Amino acid sequence: MNKELVTAFKVLKKVYFDGGYASIELNNAFNESLNFNLITKIVYGVMDFDVKLQYFISQFYTKAPKKQVQLLLKIGAYIKLELNSIPNFAYVNELVEIAKHSNLKPYVSFINATLKKISSSNFTLPNKDDNLTYLSVKYSKPKWFINLMLQNFDLNFVEQYLGEQLSTKTHIRINTCKTTISNFLTTLQTNKIDFVPSVFDDAVWVDYSKLIRVKNLKNLFTPQGIPSMIVSRNVVGNTVLDACSAPGGKAIYVATLNPNSKVIACDVYEHRVKLIEDYKLNMGVKNLTTNVLDATNYNPSFKENFDCVLLDVPCSGLGVINKKPDILINNELKFDKLPNLQLEILENNAKYVKIGGTLIYSTCTILPCENEKVLEEFLSKNKNFKIENVETFGVNCVNNNGFKTFFPHISKTEGFFIGKLKRYE
Ligand SMILES: C[S@@+](CC[C@H](N)C(=O)[O-])C[C@H]1O[C@@H](n2cnc3c(N)ncnc32)[C@H](O)[C@@H]1O
Repeated sequence: MNKELVTAFKVLKKVYFDGGYASIELNNAFNESLNFNLITKIVYGVMDFDVKLQYFISQFYTKAPKKQVQLLLKIGAYIKLELNSIPNFAYVNELVEIAKHSNLKPYVSFINATLKKISSSNFTLPNKDDNLTYLSVKYSKPKWFINLMLQNFDLNFVEQYLGEQLSTKTHIRINTCKTTISNFLTTLQTNKIDFVPSVFDDAVWVDYSKLIRVKNLKNLFTPQGIPSMIVSRNVVGNTVLDACSAPGGKAIYVATLNPNSKVIACDVYEHRVKLIEDYKLNMGVKNLTTNVLDATNYNPSFKENFDCVLLDVPCSGLGVINKKPDILINNELKFDKLPNLQLEILENNAKYVKIGGTLIYSTCTILPCENEKVLEEFLSKNKNFKIENVETFGVNCVNNNGFKTFFPHISKTEGFFIGKLKRYE
């Protein structure tokens, strides 16, 4: 049996049926003797193209088979439609072998016959008359997601958003607490790791799977997206509270950028505060302390205590679906309660900002109801706060009175939102 296909099927079963996260399951399955590039490609490919693959395989049966059988067929359909490197007969035979040696034995002849039909058929998009189905299959996103996008943005914009193919390289930040930028770049060159410059001097784009194999680079870099770095670079002042901080990416960068600052990084979950602690130790940051705190509860000792309060609030995460396609697998996301929670966190933590201080609000979603609408509601009741322009360091984005939204097709980054307010009285 082909070990790469066996592993990909195993990882995908965890994601589809046991609520697993692809990145974690892939890490758990890691084995140096296997072609992990191929396994990763199949796992992320099947999730990315889930809707399209489902549409394609459904044409070859009238009664839907067991979900695990469908998953195996999706792997076959993915290889057929998106991976030209594996010949038809090879993947059909290998997937049938996997079925024979698993609990899918009773379905082997169905799987064999269906995979053969899949491998010899061409894919055609649904008719454009049913626009929702057409867009959903073309861009392989669930209908509820397309609907949500069309409720918020016009059709042309949505198509551009969905059609954007972001770089497959990973944006990493060089950890200047432990190395210098020039030493790090020299080590990359010595190890023949190609890199592409970022908008920031202390960051580059790299092939992550190659980078993590270089042993002496441990803790000298960390994956961090451009918008996330922009958030930290907008922080001003020496006393900083990050109230929703885990795993700590932004807070640790704030502490790195300004070694004279004192950063307090909090999160409501103890196990997630531990992530900040571990991350801080690995990165070698000294000027950051952590706390387990619920950001919706008022803490009198923080009253008007901070030059800057950073609120990277819990959100739907719809801006990062390209990187985490598992978000959309299985379920329609329910996030109607989020704007209220976001506003509650904002109102509570605004009390911790000194007069003349700054409040930064960010999310990894592009939905206005979680972004500018929350800030506008807050501003309507808190006249002592006014909008400040968010500095974006030359990265293109949509500017709404100083609030900045990053869209993949405009910014070439994941979807993100940043708003900045200043307290006047
Ligand atoms: C978007 S993540 C923060 C990411 C982080 N800023 C970073 O850059 O690594 C939101 C965080 O808010 C935390 N959270 C959710 N509800 C909270 C609450 N009521 N109080 C404090 N933290 C909360 C979650 O546990 C999660 O770690």
